[in-house]
Amino acid sequence: MRGLAFRVSILHDPTEVAAIPILELRDVTKTYDGQTEVLHGVTLAVEPGDAILISGENGSGKTTLLNVAGLLDVPTKGQVLVDGKDAGRLKEAARANVRLRTIGFMFQDHNLIEDLTTLQNVMLPMRLARAKKREEAARNLLEMFGLGKFADRKPMELSTGQRQLAAVARALANGPRVVLADEPTASLDAANAALVIEALRGANLERGVAVVFAYHDSEIRWPGARRRRLQDGVLAPV
Ligand SMILES: Nc1ncnc2c1ncn2[C@@H]1O[C@H](COP(=O)(O)OP(=O)(O)OP(=O)(O)O)[C@@H](O)[C@H]1O
Ligand SMILES: [Mg+2]
Repeated sequence: MRGLAFRVSILHDPTEVAAIPILELRDVTKTYDGQTEVLHGVTLAVEPGDAILISGENGSGKTTLLNVAGLLDVPTKGQVLVDGKDAGRLKEAARANVRLRTIGFMFQDHNLIEDLTTLQNVMLPMRLARAKKREEAARNLLEMFGLGKFADRKPMELSTGQRQLAAVARALANGPRVVLADEPTASLDAANAALVIEALRGANLERGVAVVFAYHDSEIRWPGARRRRLQDGVLAPV
């Protein structure tokens, strides 16, 4: 009996159960205007601690893919699962809720709100999520990215690199488990690009935040990352 109990406990070893991905795209298709099919069946699983780099030429569909993965847009066919539940076609408000709790998004053009200060921009997702102690948390994030003394400046009064770092801070504001970063280094010089990548790598390595990072031209140095290429509407290993 003892032997049997031992074997049963091994069979139920929780470490052997496959983890449910935080975010999963299953055979996702996206067609604009009922005719231009940009994604032809994209499948991708993002697990805790993953770093996934997605390269692709201009117009290959990187932004489309991240918008669908980030619940900002809906797939035409296929599923987007968050924690194993289909969230891709929930109503806008429900998708926004899931997004606020799970996903941090870095837009291709940073998308900071010009009328708000850097601090207010970082606090915005926290406000939407009704997070507590948000000013303290936002100031900590700004300090982490060397922006503490720019808290009261508007985005226009920051350098391009500082704006992207502020966008990293905002993407991390609600403690997301996954950050989707849409070419956040495209408009930066090499030094600033390295800063932004280090910031995202730090979040990945030190906090276990999964990162999906899209880019199109320059080589991105990120040892250990999984690399995929978006081509002809599908994701292929590099
Ligand atoms: N809202 C839209 N309506 C119609 N077509 C769109 C829309 N958004 C994107 N597209 C088209 O979908 C294709 C993929 O665009 P997308 O922005 O996803 O590419 P990308 O890889 O992000 O490009 P880039 O590197 O220039 O940012 C393009 O041909 C584009 O014209
Ligand atoms: Mg794009």
